[in-house]
Amino acid sequence: MTTANDIRSTFLNYFEKNEHAVVDSSPLVPRNDPTLMFTNAGMVQFKNVFTGAETRDYKRATTSQKCVRAGGKHNDLENVGYTARHHTFFEMLGNFSFGDYFKDQAIEMAWNLVTKGFDIPQDKLLVTVYSEDEEAAGLWRKIAGLSDDKIIRIPTSDNFWQMGDTGPCGPCTEIFYDHGDHIWGGPPGSPEEDGDRFIEIWNLVFMQYEQIEPGNRVDLPNPSIDTGMGLERIAALLQGKHNNYDIDIFRAIIETCADLTGVDADGDQAASHKVIADHLRASSFLIADGVLPSNEGRGYVLRRIMRRAMRHAYLLGARDPLVHKLVPSLISKMGGHFGELKRAESLITETLKLEEQRFGRTLEKGLRLLEGETDKLGGKEALRGDVAFTLYDTYGFPLDLTQDILRGQGRTVDQAGFDAAMAEQKAKARAAWAGSGDQTTETVWFEVKEETGASEFLGYETERAEGVVSAIVADGKPVLEAKQGDKVSLLANQTPFYGESGGQMGDMGIIISAEGAEFKVSDTLKKVDGLHVHVGEVTKGDFKIGESLDMLVDGDRRTKLKANHSVTHLAHEALRRVLGDHVTQKGSLVAAEGMRFDFAHQKAMTAEEISEVENIVNRQIRENSSVATRQMTPDAAIEEGAMALFGEKYGEEVRVVSMGSSDTETKSGVYSTELCGGTHVERTGDIGFFKISNETAVAAGVRRIECLTGQAAMDYVNSHDAKLGEMAAVLKAKPLDVADRVYNLIEERKKLEKEVADLRQKLAVSGGGSSNKQEAKDVNGVNYLGRVLSDIPAKELKPLVDAMKKEIKSGVIAAVSVSEGKGSIVVGVTDDLTEKFSAVDLVRLGSAAMGGKGGGGRPDMAQAGGPDGNAADAAVSAIEAGLVG
Ligand code: SER
Repeated sequence: MTTANDIRSTFLNYFEKNEHAVVDSSPLVPRNDPTLMFTNAGMVQFKNVFTGAETRDYKRATTSQKCVRAGGKHNDLENVGYTARHHTFFEMLGNFSFGDYFKDQAIEMAWNLVTKGFDIPQDKLLVTVYSEDEEAAGLWRKIAGLSDDKIIRIPTSDNFWQMGDTGPCGPCTEIFYDHGDHIWGGPPGSPEEDGDRFIEIWNLVFMQYEQIEPGNRVDLPNPSIDTGMGLERIAALLQGKHNNYDIDIFRAIIETCADLTGVDADGDQAASHKVIADHLRASSFLIADGVLPSNEGRGYVLRRIMRRAMRHAYLLGARDPLVHKLVPSLISKMGGHFGELKRAESLITETLKLEEQRFGRTLEKGLRLLEGETDKLGGKEALRGDVAFTLYDTYGFPLDLTQDILRGQGRTVDQAGFDAAMAEQKAKARAAWAGSGDQTTETVWFEVKEETGASEFLGYETERAEGVVSAIVADGKPVLEAKQGDKVSLLANQTPFYGESGGQMGDMGIIISAEGAEFKVSDTLKKVDGLHVHVGEVTKGDFKIGESLDMLVDGDRRTKLKANHSVTHLAHEALRRVLGDHVTQKGSLVAAEGMRFDFAHQKAMTAEEISEVENIVNRQIRENSSVATRQMTPDAAIEEGAMALFGEKYGEEVRVVSMGSSDTETKSGVYSTELCGGTHVERTGDIGFFKISNETAVAAGVRRIECLTGQAAMDYVNSHDAKLGEMAAVLKAKPLDVADRVYNLIEERKKLEKEVADLRQKLAVSGGGSSNKQEAKDVNGVNYLGRVLSDIPAKELKPLVDAMKKEIKSGVIAAVSVSEGKGSIVVGVTDDLTEKFSAVDLVRLGSAAMGGKGGGGRPDMAQAGGPDGNAADAAVSAIEAGLVG
């Protein structure tokens, strides 16, 4: 059998041989179109290439594009499972020319692939052309040799393709396959065209215009080609099936589902199997592209798809989570081409399982409630809106799920009643919030959130995305526009900018409007649960609500923030391993320049502990293991060993970030698992290098480490190394000998200081260094030696006086030194005279002469000082006078 994978390869290889670049599918969340919920056609990623706003280094491309049509303008959710060809997720094969080839070659290549590459008999094929496009009709006659009855002219928009109200557009031609007259249906354009006999397999769009606004259509700079062929359709045809759900990819999933439930794949409940298979594909691809279930925006579309699948699993009798068990069969079929499925396998499985567990708790009760309510209704009476709201609010039933269940009974929901119940609940929430005592200055954010809804954060996946201005706030009030020079807060429906939270600083960058106005973002904040507020200044032009934006995060800065955040997790775990389990996070700051981490620990870390932490973290960096994020309940995460902040309030679901390889037995088998909403590196190796630059105390029992990564860590180490080199050069030593040399120098200096002091003493005792050079004189029968000494530090006076006492044997000695204008004085009395004179009394006389008070010591040796060093001689004289008595 020709598998879907073979068909995809045949298509891509064919166009590659025809000089097309094989380009990867773009993600399901469009980055270049803020108005589009999901990528829904192959040309979405090339939108700006067609208009000439963007250039690529190729002029021909081919892709197999992942598409989702659920939510937003194109919504096929309602029909899935009930028709042969509707899907929420499908692959669109396409070839594109950007101003290179046009109609003739596009038709020729398509015809050759269909009739020769895929071997489809020519007589089974027919085409449609736009009624005004005679050129296309002529080319089909010439190239394919089709007779006029096989070329159907269609005057409606069916053959004029438009991406939306604006954007590139043009007439198209479609190739149809005729399944034969045993199947009911008529050719395109006929009253029976909705039958299943004639199936469109390929749409070739001749992009030649750009719709600027309604009524204003201009020529594209270069006519281009955009084609789209649904892989599931062509696979069904080539595998001889009529229903897309019978192709190999779907069959593998459906048969696994039948095995697990014991319900016949093709019996009465075949539709449930199909819905589950379709929704499994959509959910898995969305999760792999970064969408996670939530109550708003894309996340809510995903949740609706998942919950629908779960209800059908319930219908098949499954009472335990089932859908996540089908992931391996999906990956076995599609993981080869779409590596993202394999990479995200655990995220997909756990997100599905978590949603199944959560919804499983209320699904049965909700169904019982619904049954009770519908039993009370007569005929086709609609379900009351407030009941549908209770199902939504208390039992987690999205409105469309309730509608889907009721459809089988031919019932609807009273939508107005539902809306009224919803409005009433919002009013209650508003009243409760207003009374909760939150600062009134923040009221504006609550109002903005009510008005615009949350801003969707795209920044885990991308640093650049388009958005639409949803609100502008100036001086605490919502305004409609901002002009050059205005410092305002700008909000958009979606954003790649991370809002400050969890210790990680907000992103900076630039936002450019479609008109070329510029807004410099100096910070991004997060307000009232889901609003990303870009704070900054309009540096050019002006901004108005509703304008399209190109939003660019400062990528260099974000790269550093990511490294510093991831290393915070690695360091946290390393600290616990080195210091003990008592280490708990007390705070952290993740900046571009570095990070700091506060933790409970009683004493300063030793140098060995610091280098051990550095070694562990750097080893994890070198391991270069991948960083995984998952969505779980807080309890499940903590059960797995995730580190959570004690006392922190976590929502129903938490994001769990795991990284590193484990070298001890941890429950999860990874090195670090934490609850965290921050942005992280893809692999630990991206951190580069880790260095602790400081360790201090911040409060009793709380230590802080300041840390650097990557180039900043290198710069730190290099600057220290350079300083060491400089010291080594001065010391004429090898860098590693510097410490020994400095130690020796200090010892040597101490020795020399001692020698100098001794020498000074000797000199002073022998009379040198004294300004009043008189020898000891007889005063009142006592030998008195009074000296004013220069260059003698005060602390050396006592040993000096001791030495002089020995010299004169009997007598009184006064030594005064002057430093920085102040005098210090020591008086010594030899033992034989202490009965007559007290050194303490004498020193006080000297001190008083220099304007000082007091003095202390023993009768044989006392010390004092005075502020007036100029009176040193007077002090010597005053003591002399004291001897006379
Ligand atoms: N853009 C066209 C479509 O979606 C052809 O690729 O059908």
